[in-house]
Parts: sequence; structure tokens; C-alpha cells
Amino acid sequence: MYIHFIVGARPNFVKISSLIHAIKNYNQEKTVNFKLIHTGQHYDYNMNTIFFKELGIPEPDYFLNCGGGSQTTQISKIMLEYEKVLDADLPQYCVVVGDVNSTVACAVVAKNFKIKVVHVEAGIRSGDITMPEEVNRILTDSITDLFFTTTLKASNLLINTGVEPSRIHFVGNTMIDTLLRFKNDFRNPFENTERKSITEDKFLVLTLHRPSNVDDLQWLKSCLLEILDSTKNVNIFFPVHPRTRKNLELTGIKSDRLILLEPLGYFEFNFLVGNSIGVITDSGGITEEATVLKIPCITLRDSTERPETVTVGTNVLIGSDLTLLRKFLAKILNNNWKKSDIPKYWDGKTGDRIIDILFKDLNENK
Ligand code: UD1
Repeated sequence: MYIHFIVGARPNFVKISSLIHAIKNYNQEKTVNFKLIHTGQHYDYNMNTIFFKELGIPEPDYFLNCGGGSQTTQISKIMLEYEKVLDADLPQYCVVVGDVNSTVACAVVAKNFKIKVVHVEAGIRSGDITMPEEVNRILTDSITDLFFTTTLKASNLLINTGVEPSRIHFVGNTMIDTLLRFKNDFRNPFENTERKSITEDKFLVLTLHRPSNVDDLQWLKSCLLEILDSTKNVNIFFPVHPRTRKNLELTGIKSDRLILLEPLGYFEFNFLVGNSIGVITDSGGITEEATVLKIPCITLRDSTERPETVTVGTNVLIGSDLTLLRKFLAKILNNNWKKSDIPKYWDGKTGDRIIDILFKDLNENK
């Protein structure tokens, strides 16, 4: 079996690590050959290199160097560069993960070369078509051959759009494979600093990077002021995404309790989340990790493509309602969060299930 794995942006690295480790297990009996194609969508050390080092991902076989620029520029550059790779090097499967620009761009090119497109994390939808990720999800799923889903709801959505059920496999969550595999490696980012006592203090973790939250200066400002006002005596650790940096400075907000950090590596970030009293975020992946780590999570979005983090897990959606933000922060501070559970198959074995099914597919179609 010969596979191309596509990665481009930070959340992709976490998902692909699960598949690469599953292949390591398999290669004791069967042979899976793969090459890693890195589009270069994320390129900073903190957004990229550190994830390869920590999560045991090998050096990419191809680096397409397509970082920066608008959505359209990024997608079209990636398509042109991946086409050159496929001109010389054809796999049997092109595996794309998640919903970033690299996902849709490479899926389209692979399809043009009649390579089977495999989408990991297929079938999820926020219903908010103004999000670039939603467009990427819909387009990718419209040309996918084999669908791997994180929930039954996602499988059912695909069936309702007319996909033949035999092409859909509910396997669980690769992000959670990685979380469980590496949880003993999580480490305190302040280990050798004056903030060493971090685990004794109550603190929150904040991440924001969606255009809807960070491109509107007034909203960003009121949101940060509300968080500070509702959480007296609690530190807020805020690893700042590159997209967020400039506008954050423009808000002019400064507080000893709002501790701005560079983007953190996987081990340090999840140490913070796991030891926090709660997370405030607009990320999708973090809501899943918080659910498994049993940490209360407030999401600053109107919708989510991961509804089970709300119905089963620790997440609540508050959109842009600052009154709700205050109410839920009070619940966190009073240690009065809802009961939660872990969704089915978020058990650390998803990568193995996926590789198993790919083998079956290969044998059936010989
Ligand atoms: C992308 C994904 C988003 C994912 C997020 C995680 C899409 C449409 N969006 O959003 O789904 O949740 O990654 O981080 O694919 N930049 C740097 N250094 C880097 C990476 C980016 O300075 O290492 C800059 C870019 O040049 C750009 C901005 O940050 O100006 C945003 O990066 P981009 O890749 O366009 O999308 P994200 O907002 O990171």
C-alpha cells in the first residue's frame, strides 16, 4: 500500500501523528509505504517544527512552501505545487485531514489524477458557510472516496447527502489518539521560571484566532475586557496565534493577569489546558481535547461542527453574548460545571481502525 499524507496547518500535524504511529504498528506484519507532503501553510517554529519533533512525525518528503496570502492564493498555490508532485509520484491513496486550505486543495488535485481521496474527519458541518473551513469541508466531502468520521452524526450527514454507506466508516477521533498517546509527556511551560508554582494557582487558558473574533477590533477589545472583569484574581494564559497578534496590540489592553505567550508546542499547551480551571476558545480541536481532559470549555462561536462536545462533552457555545460569557465564567469559578462524558470511539485506537480499513479496501479492489 502506498499513501500520500497531506499536512499544512497546526491541527493537521496532531491528526497525522496518529496515522503515522498506527502504521508503525502495522509495519511489523504488513507493509504500508507513505510519503508526507507538507504544503507549508504554517511555517513558524512554534506553529510547525515543534509539532513534528514532539509528535514523532518524520521530516516531510515534499515541502511545498505555500504559506501566507489570501485563501485563494493559498489554495491555488498548493494545487499547482501538489500537481508537480503527482506528475512524478503517484500513490494509491491521498489522505487529507480536517478542513484547512491544504485539505481541499490537495483533494482536488488527487482527484484529477484519479487517486482515491480519503478524508479523515469527514461529514462535520457547522452550518456557517461564512467560515472558510465550512467551505473546505463541503468541497472536500463532495469528491472524497473513503470517509472516516469522528461521530455517527457525521456519518448520517454524509448518508443524507447521498453518499453510499459502504464508503463511510465511523472510526473515532485521531486528535484524541494523539492526546492519549502523549499525555505523559505534557510539561509545564514555566518549569524553569519564576512562575514555577503555576499548578498551585487557579488559571484559565484563552485562544482566539477566527477572523470573526480577532479581525473586529472593537469586539476583541470588549471580549477581553469582559473576561478580565469577570475573573478577578485568576490568571489568564493566552498563547497568541500569528493572525491575532496585530489586533491584540491595537486593543491597547494590558493587565498583569492577562499573560500573553507565543504559540506553545503541543506538550506545553496541553499541560496548561489539563491543569486549568477552564478554557475560553474559538478553536474546534481544543473543544474536543478539553472534553477528553474533562476541562470546562467556553466557545466564542455561534455554531460548532463538533456538536457532541456540547451535547456530551464539557463545551458550551456562547456566540458573541457577553452576558453568557460572564455567566459561564462564574460557573467555572464556582466549580459548578455540567456533567460530561466522552464520545464513543474517542479511545486512542482510531488510527489503527483507519489503517485496517484501508488494507481491506486495497484487498477488495485489487
Ligand atoms: C488555519 C486554518 C484553521 C485552523 C488554524 C489553526 C484554514 C482556512 N484555516 O487558520 O482552520 O484552525 O489554521 O492554526 O486553513 N502565519 C504565520 N506563521 C505561521 C502560520 C501563519 O505568521 O506559522 C500567518 C499567516 O501568514 C497569515 C495568518 O498567520 O497571515 C493566518 O494563517 P493562515 O494559515 O492563513 O490561517 P489560520 O488563521 O492560521
